[in-house]
Amino acid sequence: MRPVAPQPAFSFRCIACGHASESAGQDFRCAHCGDLVEIVNPQWSESDQKLALQPDRLKSIWKQRRLSPAPADLSGVWRFRELLPVLASEQNIITLREGNTPLYELPQCSRITGVPHLFAKHQGMNPTGSFKDTGMTVAASFARQAEFRWVACASTGNTSASMAAYAARGGLRGLVLVPDGKISWSKLSQALDYGAVTCQLRTDFDGCLRLLQELVRRAPVYQLNSINPFRLEGQKTLAIELMEQLDWQPPDHIIVPGGNLGNSSAIGKALIEMYKLGLISRLPKLSVIQAEGANALVRTLREAGGRQLISVRAETRATAIRIGNPASWKKAVHVLAETGGACEDVSEAEIAQAKAEIGAEGIGCEPASAVTLAGLKKLLRQGFVQPQDSVVLVLTGNVLKDPDFTMDFHRGEMFREAPTDAQLESLRRPPIVLDASLDAILRTLERFEKSIS
Ligand code: F0G
Repeated sequence: MRPVAPQPAFSFRCIACGHASESAGQDFRCAHCGDLVEIVNPQWSESDQKLALQPDRLKSIWKQRRLSPAPADLSGVWRFRELLPVLASEQNIITLREGNTPLYELPQCSRITGVPHLFAKHQGMNPTGSFKDTGMTVAASFARQAEFRWVACASTGNTSASMAAYAARGGLRGLVLVPDGKISWSKLSQALDYGAVTCQLRTDFDGCLRLLQELVRRAPVYQLNSINPFRLEGQKTLAIELMEQLDWQPPDHIIVPGGNLGNSSAIGKALIEMYKLGLISRLPKLSVIQAEGANALVRTLREAGGRQLISVRAETRATAIRIGNPASWKKAVHVLAETGGACEDVSEAEIAQAKAEIGAEGIGCEPASAVTLAGLKKLLRQGFVQPQDSVVLVLTGNVLKDPDFTMDFHRGEMFREAPTDAQLESLRRPPIVLDASLDAILRTLERFEKSIS
């Protein structure tokens, strides 16, 4: 990796008291007030930025790198390294060619919602099937640079899958803490296959994260949760790559699911930085959608004006976002206020319906990602989004991440007690067991044609 533009340095700054420091403790909390730290680039002052980071020059460097065979340039994260913290040596980069994810049009969902300019940025197309890889490549590389032997995370599944993969690629040992019985088999199996030491704890995600925080104070273990600000730096590239795909014309709205609230914070940070650096000329509104049963941020904004966290006892079948005590809530409140975005929650039935609608586009996603489409419908009803607005939904995880949810939905094993909803019913495609005869197949086709005419 040959630096083309001048490489900026970075430091840590507390998000609450503003205390700045050159290094951060194992828990990534401020030594003065205990709040979370973020990574800042002190060189991005008004005058320096004009000298070093001219927007047109950056855009052209990033475009040129698409033709390069160097591993750092093939990564959809490190390709944007001018906006990332700098490693001492490129040898430390652990990459699986993450990022480079597609931006899809959604013609059927456009018809359903009445929003013609509707797109999905599909982070489920990353190497381990979720957006976590974009942050993991950066944070795992810094763990390797700091010569840690062990990396660890608490997870609802995707972080653990991603961390296990990057640890394995980087020659690090991975420790995974997940809530027993509350993560999908698909995600758990990834962590096992990538060779992590995987512990299923008899608690929820919030309990796992609490224990991890204690562990890193006691043992030389590097934590790779999104409390780790290097993770968020890598996740910023989702927004940078998105703007590049839109030829640097920001959409009116970006809608993202909210769990521990690291991803929304990272996307918001990227948008604000790009705006300040002159890479985009206006800020899209960034909105966060949660499941009704795990709506801590919704309640925090509604009932406490965003000033103090209102935790909830989380329950939702969208297990990726089954989180009641989100660590990055303050960062998320900040980016929502800066971009003028909204925060809403959606029901389990709305999530299932939206997931099936995204599936019927031939794209698919995991349940947590589908809250974005369900949230868009709600924001349209409220008038916050107008039909003529351009909207990007961030799909965070691949459809293969939670096959149990998909099977239960299509087999009609979900919402059994609820009154039958015609819209939900029309989306179900249960598997059909037949005698092995041509007649049986032809009769099935006829029945199907009749049912939709
Ligand atoms: N979507 C998916 C598929 C996720 O896996 C997560 C979080 C989110 C959305 C929410 O993102 O936490 O940054 O607000 N999954 C974490 C995990 C918590 O452990 O895999 P967030």
